[in-house]
Order: sequence, then C-alpha cells, then structure tokens
Amino acid sequence: MKRIGMLTSGGDCQALNAAMRGVVKTLTFSGEDVEVYGFQDGYKGLIYCNFQMLTGHDFSGILTKGGTILGTSRTPFKLLDEPTPEGLDKVAEMKRNYAKLGLDCLVILGGNGTHKTANRLREEGLNIVTLPKTIDNDLWGTDMTFGFQSAVDIATNAIDCIHTTASSHGRVFIVEVMGHKVGWLTLNAGMAGGADIILLPEIPYDIDKVIEKIEERDKNGSRFTIIAVAEGAISKDDAKLSKKEYKKKLEKRKVSVSYEIADEIFKRTGREVRVTVPGHMQRGGSPCPYDRVFASRLGAEAGKLILQGKYGFMVGYKNREIVRVELADVAGKLKYVDPDASIIKEAKLLGISFGD
Ligand code: F6P
Repeated sequence: MKRIGMLTSGGDCQALNAAMRGVVKTLTFSGEDVEVYGFQDGYKGLIYCNFQMLTGHDFSGILTKGGTILGTSRTPFKLLDEPTPEGLDKVAEMKRNYAKLGLDCLVILGGNGTHKTANRLREEGLNIVTLPKTIDNDLWGTDMTFGFQSAVDIATNAIDCIHTTASSHGRVFIVEVMGHKVGWLTLNAGMAGGADIILLPEIPYDIDKVIEKIEERDKNGSRFTIIAVAEGAISKDDAKLSKKEYKKKLEKRKVSVSYEIADEIFKRTGREVRVTVPGHMQRGGSPCPYDRVFASRLGAEAGKLILQGKYGFMVGYKNREIVRVELADVAGKLKYVDPDASIIKEAKLLGISFGD
C-alpha cells in the first residue's frame, strides 16, 4: 500500500490535471494498492490539513481539462518561516500532517518558488517527487515545462489576430507576453507569430534601435510593425540600475513596460501605437496535444519513481528524453534565454530585431 499526497502550487497552467492523471494511472495500472490524498490550494492544504481522498474516478476524463482539480495558491518561499495568521509554523505543520496521515511521499507540481519549498521539505526529511509546471519555461534542470507549449499557442494566436488589424490600419502594435523574468514564451510566440521586434528580459533594449527598425520597415513599404514584448523586458538604461533601484522604479510604475514603450514610440515618431495584453488567457483553457502527451510522460515517470521508492527528484526533460533530476540541484535556479543561443542568431538572420 502506498499513501501519496499530491498538491499543485503557484500559478496554474495547462496540463496540471494531465500530469496528475499520469501519476495515478501509472500507479493503479501497476496493480499497487494506492491511497491518494489531494491537498487543496497548494501548500496551504498541507499546512491546514485540508485534503480530499481521490480515487481513479477523479482522474478520469481530466486529460484535456485546464486548471487544476486540486486548486492552487501561492505560498511565497521567502515567507515560509513566518507564521500563518493563526501563528502556526508552516514547515512544522506540513511535517506534522505528512506524518499524521502516514504518507509515503508527496507529489508536488509547481514552478520555481514551489520547487524551493519542495526542496526544503526534502531537507526536512519528507519523501518528495516533483513535476515541472509553468508557462514561463524558466525551471532549471529541464529543457521544457508543461504548460509552456499551450501558452505559446495562445500567445501566438493573439499575435496572429493582431497582424490582420495592424495591417489594415498601418499601426504599430505591441503584444505583451507573460513569462515573469524570462523570455522563452515571448521568443517562441514572437517567432511563431512573425513579430518584427521581440523584446526579452535577457536582452535589454535600446528604444532608438526599436524606432530604427520601425522606420526601416516603413521605408521598405511595410505599413505596420508588430512588437512582442515580454512582461519582464527591460531597457538598457534600466539594466544599469542596481537591483534595489530597479525594484523601487517598478514599485512606482503604474503601467506595464509595454505602455512605456508605446508612449516613447508615440512621442518620438507620432505613430499610432496600440497595446494588447492577453494576460492570464495564456494560462487558461485546455492543454494543447503536445502538453497532454508531455505531461502524461512526466507523470508516468513520477509514478515509476514512487513504485521504486526513489525520492528527492524532479522529473524533467533533457535532449528529448524524460530524466530524473536531483531536486537539490533544481531549487533556486532560473533557466534564462541565452542571448548568444543559436535561436537568437537565427531570428536575427530572419530580420527580427531584439532592440539591441
Ligand atoms: O509564473 C506564471 C505567471 O503566469 C507569470 O508568467 C506571470 O508573471 C505570473 O504568473 C502572474 O501571476 P499571478 O497569476 O499571480 O498574477
């Protein structure tokens, strides 16, 4: 008999349900007797011991379902050692509930912050297996996270739609893409949507270069310009600020970076500029077929780890293979777009400007 706790933490994304289904299907198909404790709303559920017992039926028909059947919430890692509003020690409560329920392990699905907490629980002696979820694709130790490809589809669709209206009106259009501090989503959606300019956090932009590109397109007879801007894009000037100074600037900023860029372009060129922010749509809806397959494969490997009694791993993806990565190596590291990567060079060969 295996008693498995399961939780999804942090921002949701597509294919969370597909991944959990993959784990449970693998365990039940093996003939192992399993009890699944589904903690509600992320680590909060484990802290307050809010859970529901789940059976194979609960995982049936959810391969295509977006969101998470367990609910999720954010429990910031930096506040982990601060007590709950009721004065509870979060880590101690999670350990207590794990022991009280006699769990063999916890399956934790999450992104960066979630992995830091998962690793802390591992250090505290809990058996942990994690799965890499996030539309940002910023988790270290895996070439891909699930949710990413679905979000690329949605952001690309947004750029596609903007293309037709931009060309009718001859306007400059900015599409702001999610991704937190990294540019994977913007880079991929930008290239897939045929954006003319792509601005990423990893490649600070110079507004003069952005305008140069718009004017060059104008001279060549293009009536419009599409700019894909990562929500974390940063100008060359801002990149010179210290972390503290930049944080202060962001606190004061009332609009996102796209509106600042739009304003600058308008002031300097007098061109009509519009901003579109698809926002949380990028995390919504059904997972794309790629993510359904990918999350199922990751889930199957997590199930296998549990059957073998091997813990302390994130199941990841390297060189087209599903792999086991030490959780201790993953926690606290971000995977950035390398400005010297071949994809950037190829994009530049295609005439895409990164504003650098
Ligand atoms: O990490 C996923 C993500 O969607 C980021 O791309 C984005 O910056 C953030 O979450 C938004 O968070 P929230 O849902 O808390 O607004």
